[in-house]
Amino acid sequence: MAPLSKLALVALGTVKGVAAWGVLGHATVAYVAQNYVSSDTASWAQGVLGDSSSSYLANIASWADDYRETTAGEWSAPLHFIDAEDNPPSSCNVDYDRDCGNSGCSISAIANYTQRVGDGRLSTDNVAEALRFLVHFIGDVTQPLHDEAYKVGGNEIEVTFNGYSDNLHADWDTYMPEQLIGGDSLSDAQSWAKTLTTEINSGNYKSQAASWIEGDSTSDTVSTATRWASDANAFVCSVVMPNGAAALETGDLYPTYYNSAIGTIELQIAKGGYRLGNWLNMVYTSEIAKRDLEGSDQKVRDTASYPDLLGREFLPEPRPLSRAKLARAAMEGSCCGSGKHDH
Ligand SMILES: *[C@@H]1O[C@H](CO)[C@@H](O)[C@H](O)[C@H]1NC(C)=O
Ligand SMILES: [Zn+2]
Ligand SMILES: [Zn+2]
Repeated sequence: MAPLSKLALVALGTVKGVAAWGVLGHATVAYVAQNYVSSDTASWAQGVLGDSSSSYLANIASWADDYRETTAGEWSAPLHFIDAEDNPPSSCNVDYDRDCGNSGCSISAIANYTQRVGDGRLSTDNVAEALRFLVHFIGDVTQPLHDEAYKVGGNEIEVTFNGYSDNLHADWDTYMPEQLIGGDSLSDAQSWAKTLTTEINSGNYKSQAASWIEGDSTSDTVSTATRWASDANAFVCSVVMPNGAAALETGDLYPTYYNSAIGTIELQIAKGGYRLGNWLNMVYTSEIAKRDLEGSDQKVRDTASYPDLLGREFLPEPRPLSRAKLARAAMEGSCCGSGKHDH
């Protein structure tokens, strides 16, 4: 009995592969967002995705992680994070020009896919790709270790969690959320999202939810997403490693460290979902609905006045690789460790 279930766990872990917020976290962000999109935004998104089910965003929330694992999708690996080269736990901060790598990061990606998802000239496939990426990256950016260069975002901090050897990044992405919820199915995500939505509407988050989206603007996406990344990065100093990384490498993170972190994990998942819902409403209102009102002649304006839509204007000036960027390159740009518990 015991050896069998251990084998099953190992096999599952291997199949699951690399995840960023695990499948559970991303699906929960998506379900929370679904609770805040307008009915017009929802119909538009369902049309783009060709999915009229009640899980239209949750169904695609981890697509970007699967895509990154394919040969065709390798180029997108750096888009899942921004490597803030700060100095935790004494100093945490994000500087877009310093931290976003030459091939892009989560912030440039959010800017790029926000532009692309609202552009009427792209094919439905391109718009659907943009929406799948946006749903995923607006989740990733709320995971504190996706906004941190130190030890490759915690992937190289070896820890023990509830008897398993793994790394700190994987515990934040996957194992601490799963410890809380007890599974990673879509129905687990849906019920977690329901709890978080109640907290936003009438519970512990009610008084702060407005501040999560304050100042968000689809006309200045880089500033908005940098604010989101800075907000999450601050938790690296205060909650993720308040006493430094070495303090986490001895003993078991369960239950004391887990108890100190899980409230922040819930907060960040709720925040990601609330922001995503609001963001999609803003894109819908300012681009898609507006274009439909303006009529078809507006769709064929002089294309020379449009940006090239490859988002290069969002990237910082190219510069030589720092040590942290070299370390990330050595991981082939990947954002996450093996994604499985090792004994
Ligand atoms: C923008 O998206 C397109 C399509 O996925 C991609 O080819 C391009 O590299 C992206 N640009 C940035 C800066 O992420
Ligand atoms: Zn991750
Ligand atoms: Zn990711």
